[in-house]
Amino acid sequence: MTELIPMPRDVVAGSGEVRLTEYSQIHAGPGAEGVGQWLSGVLRQATGLPLREGWELDDTDGDGIGLRLAPGLGAEEYRLVSGPSGVLIEGGGAAGVFWGAQTLRQLLGPDAYRRAPVGRDRTWAVPHLTIEDAPRFRWRGLMLDVARHFMPKDGVLRYLDLLAAHKLNVFHFHLTDDQGWRVEIKKYPRLTEVGSWRARTKIGHRASPLWEEKPHGGHYTQDDIREIVAYAAERHITVVPEIDVPGHSQAAIAAYPELGNTDVIDTTALSVWDTWGINPNVLAPTDNTLRFYEDVFEEVLELFPSEFIHVGGDECLKDQWRQSATAQTRMRELGLKDEDELQAWFIGHFDGWLSARGRRLIGWDEILEGGLAKGAAVSSWRGYAGGIAAARAGHDVVMCPEQQVYLDHRQDAGADEPVPIGYVRSLEDVYRFEPVPAELTPYEARHVLGTQANVWTEVMEDQARVDYQAFPRLAAFAEVAWSSLPVPAERDFAGFERRLAVHYGRLDALGVAYRPPTGPRPWQRRPGVLGRPIDGPPPNR
Ligand code: ACM
Repeated sequence: MTELIPMPRDVVAGSGEVRLTEYSQIHAGPGAEGVGQWLSGVLRQATGLPLREGWELDDTDGDGIGLRLAPGLGAEEYRLVSGPSGVLIEGGGAAGVFWGAQTLRQLLGPDAYRRAPVGRDRTWAVPHLTIEDAPRFRWRGLMLDVARHFMPKDGVLRYLDLLAAHKLNVFHFHLTDDQGWRVEIKKYPRLTEVGSWRARTKIGHRASPLWEEKPHGGHYTQDDIREIVAYAAERHITVVPEIDVPGHSQAAIAAYPELGNTDVIDTTALSVWDTWGINPNVLAPTDNTLRFYEDVFEEVLELFPSEFIHVGGDECLKDQWRQSATAQTRMRELGLKDEDELQAWFIGHFDGWLSARGRRLIGWDEILEGGLAKGAAVSSWRGYAGGIAAARAGHDVVMCPEQQVYLDHRQDAGADEPVPIGYVRSLEDVYRFEPVPAELTPYEARHVLGTQANVWTEVMEDQARVDYQAFPRLAAFAEVAWSSLPVPAERDFAGFERRLAVHYGRLDALGVAYRPPTGPRPWQRRPGVLGRPIDGPPPNR
């Protein structure tokens, strides 16, 4: 059972095995208690063994699990030794111990992922071996869009478990968009009362003639968010919230029409958007809007301890600003030469506002247009170019080019993908994704914090569809983000596939509705449902 994903840095096999028995104990040393609780919780469920706490690390029974900090290791680095005196996992920090515990779970076999034991005669064995391991990147993320289709809280918690099982440590939570506002803001209740529901929903690409003629919506209360953030923290995952400005804001404008360009259109006539595409209704660049969003971010900061706060900034159409006397006056007052600079001013305002509160702004790569403040970071989605420019200008970057790691995009060119949008990105394409562009010098490359895969949900109406798009590609992505793989052409994809054959068993035990490698696929294209035009860069959403 050493077919591990992601691949560890170094594995040395021994002979023999550690058997967990009803006498086995778990001992968590100082600083590793949280991991001990998590591990004993999941393993008691799966094995039915009592796994009592208190085994001393120097015990010679040889059937226990020890967890402890080891100061010589990096914070996320771990060493797992399975030998005659049991299993010992040491990490530089609790995070390292936790990733080691995830490896242990893989070593115990797929049934270790179940929530109750499935057989009485089962033995639980860990082969004797030594693993030394550490991540390549400190930002190993998944972005989930819960605005286009709402994912109820239980589904989000489940995704956090799936991230943890793949050693991913950033959950980028896309909470607001034209089609829905998903987080309770106490000061502005209409954001969720009005902004979290739409009357109907386009099925497929925006050119499709089909509609789902029923209301869609939902939101997380502030206590839901606290629960999600705490659950993530127990799994050493940081939740980075995204609140979009100044584009992707129609749901907010529908709830509070004064946020829009009221001298251009009748914003009181807007409702939460029911189709896809790039939306012309952007926030008005007024003091009122700035104060409103400061209030929103005030509550967001209280809920999310993350250093980075994502403000969107992508796909902001500027036609309304061109037509708005208010916006034009503002530009003149500020001495701005065009609407790009107005967007930069808007983003710059929140950059300063967040910095003054000890946080850092991150936004999609459009925020580079018109200048960007020093501490701000960029999610490079329109390819590598934004990330390269940002790194050269001294900004930190998360690489997530849509051509490579947009998991909403179809996984093959055949006719059986449910809604065949975007670029074809096969499992192998994702496995050969390289987050650090060759153009960067090693010095510039230090600004690449890491990478994330993005899951936009226009065409994913429920969890099972998200699973189908995300898996197994997220397993390949996790290896790219964690393991120090060779250059893309030299990566052992066949070896990955062999390990993946075992990994499917883990995903089965976890109940993941992944895209099966062969045979009938659970999603057939529905007649009349269109994807994006198939070839060339997708007209985005
Ligand atoms: C994006 O895909 N519009 C960030």
